[in-house]
Formats: sequence, structure tokens, C-alpha cells
Amino acid sequence: MRLVIYTGKGGTGKTVSSCATAINLADKNYKTILISSDPAHTLSDALSINIGNELSDVLSNLMAIEIDPIFEMQKNYDSFLSYIASTFYGKGVSRTMAYEMGMLPGMTQLLSLLRIEHVLTRSDCDVAVVDMPASGEALRFLHFPKLAGSMGRKLVGIGGLLGGLARLFQPLSGYSGQLGSFLNQEADIMKRLENLGSIMSNQSITSLRLVTNTDVFSLKNAKRALMSASLFGINVDVVLINKVDKTRYETKKISENIPLEFYPVPCRIAELRKTELQGIQMLRDHALEIFNDSDPSNVFFRERYTL
Ligand SMILES: Nc1ncnc2c1ncn2[C@@H]1O[C@H](COP(=O)(O)OP(=O)(O)OP(=O)(O)O)[C@@H](O)[C@H]1O
Ligand SMILES: [Mg+2]
Repeated sequence: MRLVIYTGKGGTGKTVSSCATAINLADKNYKTILISSDPAHTLSDALSINIGNELSDVLSNLMAIEIDPIFEMQKNYDSFLSYIASTFYGKGVSRTMAYEMGMLPGMTQLLSLLRIEHVLTRSDCDVAVVDMPASGEALRFLHFPKLAGSMGRKLVGIGGLLGGLARLFQPLSGYSGQLGSFLNQEADIMKRLENLGSIMSNQSITSLRLVTNTDVFSLKNAKRALMSASLFGINVDVVLINKVDKTRYETKKISENIPLEFYPVPCRIAELRKTELQGIQMLRDHALEIFNDSDPSNVFFRERYTL
């Protein structure tokens, strides 16, 4: 199994490049799953097909899902949310408001990661392609499973990290009904995050691909992301320089200078088209431009050392 994750600064072309990659892989007969963890849900727009919060068919060999964190929480982590919410409504906050507040910052990314883990372990796909939100945030959360996994292991004797928090909150909230199921769910979450953490640090399974444009801001963002990925032990195997305006002076700068900034990670280039990239055929062409004849499921580069 391969996990290919696209990230980069806002608007650089993460969504279209994830879709293009997934279509190319499906055309090559790989069983492919395309996952968006971007709360803006742009897969449907790029593919011009309605994608929901459950896996749905796009092409033969290609399924896609747009993760909806609120739906995930209500469907799969109700005791988790109930417990957190109880800490608020135990203090007089209205029930509806308590549930809103229960979606603490970071919870949406956590739920997205858990859903990704679920898809990876339950499906028999050959390749999963993930469209992640802009780099900074995404990388922090890609690192989270590893961190939470190792902390969870260390704290297991005292009920786990979140279990400890739950116990702390319990006397304050005056609510005890859900503690047992909360702790069960919490142990399960830690196990699954740890599993995802080991998948993501395995260079033969996971590749992070950074998407940048030619402007200084997105280049700087990609370089920072490359450094963070290296620190977090996640292998970057391609930098995609997208929206290159070949009618301008940029050609020389792009072909010679920019790849040096990312050396030794290989760069791929895609031109700025006259129209937006939308629909299966345009995305198919975008993939051909990025990968030529090569197979997007390859590991194009392996970092030789990790810190
Ligand atoms: N090579 C290209 N040529 C022309 N238009 C492009 C190209 N790549 C992307 N676009 C267009 O740029 C816009 C942004 O692309 P996309 O949504 O894939 O970026 P993103 O990085 O996912 O953005 P966000 O950070 O908002 O999620 C879209 O309208 C898309 O069609
Ligand atoms: Mg996007």
C-alpha cells in the first residue's frame, strides 16, 4: 500500500494535483482512494462530481471521500464528544452550545486523521492520495499521531493521556455516565494514532509531496515544510512547481534555480493553463504533465537519514 499526501500554501494547486494523481493511478489500474481532509471540501468542485462524507465511486478503480469532522464526531465518537461536552454543560452551558464547544481546536484535524487511518486499514486499496490543508497546520498534525502514540504508550498505566484529562474534568463537570466508554474510545484512538504514525514514518509507504508556485511566499512556505517534514521523519519525494507561466521570463528561473533550492528532492513542473483545471479530462492532462510516463505511485526520492 502507498500513501501519497499533497500539501502546500493556499491556492497553489494541492486539490487539483491530488485529484490528477488519483485519476492517473486509477487509469493505471491501481485501486485508488482519494481523501480530502480540507474543511473547504473542494474535491467535488475539481472533479465536477458530488463527493460525500462516505466513500463514493468516481471512476472504476477510484473512490473518493470528503471528510466532515462534525459528521465523524457524531457518528463515530459520540461518547468522546459527550464526555467533553459534559464538562461544559455541567457548568451551566446550554446543551447545544456545550456540543459546539466540545469541538475543541485541533479536534477537526484529529478526526480527519482518525478517518484517514480507518480508510487505510479497512480498505484494500493500492494507493491512497490525501489532499491536506495548507502546510504549516498540516505538518503539525501529520506529526501528531507519532507524538500521541508514544505518549499514549508511556501513559497507558494510568489510563492514557486523555483518560487522565477525563478524570481531571469529572469532578468539575459532575457528570460520570460516559466515563467508561470515553476511556475505551480514548484507548482505541491512541492505538489508531500510533498505527497511523508508524505508517507515516515508513518511507516505503508514505510520501509527502509539496506543491508550490513560483512566487517567493509559496517557495518559502515549501522550504519550511520540507524542513519540518525532515524533522518529523516524513519523507518528501517530490516538490511540484505548479502554475509556471512559460510565456514569461520564468522558464530559466524555474528550470535552473528553483530546483536547486530543494536539492536533492526532485522537482516536477506544471504550466499555468489558460483556464482553471476542472473535470476528469483536464485533471488527467495535468497528471500527464506532472509525471510524464512515470508512475505516480513510485517513491521518487528517499531521505537517507532521519533525525
Ligand atoms: N496549472 C494550473 N493552471 C491553471 N489553473 C490552475 C493550475 N493549478 C491550479 N489551478 C487553479 O487554481 C485554483 C486553486 O487550485 P486548488 O484548489 O487545487 O489549490 P489548493 O492548493 O487546493 O487551494 P486551497 O489552499 O484553497 O485548498 C483552482 O481554481 C485551480 O483550477
Ligand atoms: Mg484545496
